[in-house]
Amino acid sequence: MARVLVTRRLPDGGLDPLAGHELVGPKPDDTPYSHDELCAHVRSCDAVVCLLTDRIDAAVIEAGAGTLRVIANVAVGYDNVDVAAAHAHGIPVCNTPGVLDETTADLAFALILAASRLLSEAERDLRGGRWPGWGITQYLGRDVHEATLGLVGFGRIARAVARRAAGFGMHVLHHARHDTNEDGYVADLDELAGTVDVVSLHVPGGAGTHHLFDARRLALMKPTAVLVNTARGTVVDETALAAALHGDRLFAAGLDVYEREPEISPELFAAPRTVLLPHIGSASQATRTRMATMATSAVATVLEGGTPPNIVTP
Ligand code: GLV
Repeated sequence: MARVLVTRRLPDGGLDPLAGHELVGPKPDDTPYSHDELCAHVRSCDAVVCLLTDRIDAAVIEAGAGTLRVIANVAVGYDNVDVAAAHAHGIPVCNTPGVLDETTADLAFALILAASRLLSEAERDLRGGRWPGWGITQYLGRDVHEATLGLVGFGRIARAVARRAAGFGMHVLHHARHDTNEDGYVADLDELAGTVDVVSLHVPGGAGTHHLFDARRLALMKPTAVLVNTARGTVVDETALAAALHGDRLFAAGLDVYEREPEISPELFAAPRTVLLPHIGSASQATRTRMATMATSAVATVLEGGTPPNIVTP
């Protein structure tokens, strides 16, 4: 029987693959462990099941070196885990690819629609008693049908968004670091940013994509364009985005992720034509359960001496 640290509460059934192992955590109130608490716990655990709210940095991994046999992040993104440090200590890191693509694409498309059609502002006014009745010049958004969508990153989630966009009659372009040799590929990200009506971001977080959409690139976008981010908050310079929205240099934004979650900058809160969601891209009952089960199954496999398919360490 191994000891497995489970940092946060998981959906019902998510722990089933770990039956027979001793579970440590989560805290009764389900608040995240502090960095010190993580370091203390990993010293006596064989495995960690963590969430993207846990910073599993080199210090945590160092503390667990010698005892930890696997780290499983219940997310497809793993920028919260120092994968290089884990690899240096021979600890495999697992994620949850493939099971959340369609659910996250649903949400990205919801944000494309909601931001383009100003749904948040319209609903806020109605709920706040500020709707005087139908008006021909009220809440004039941008059409999604026939618009050109620019996908930044062309992995599974972006492709799932492209399929939805086709149903709306959108023209779809995409940018990726390597030529996809597929229709709609645009090699130059600046060109894509300046051409499309909607930019939807689907790249991983981390140093390689930090502020990919900074003030300069945001300024290339059409003033009528919409930016949607369901990837990682760090991909966009939030201060520059808020300034572009306040200055009417960008039509609208739909965000599910933020640079310093759960903190939201006051400038973004106050930005016009902006839909803000609390990182719910994969939040359907079925998908969150699949993610948890995939992560805990990977841990069980490693503890039994096997190799799960979802290892991200080289
Ligand atoms: C969610 O953001 C994930 O990476 O799974």
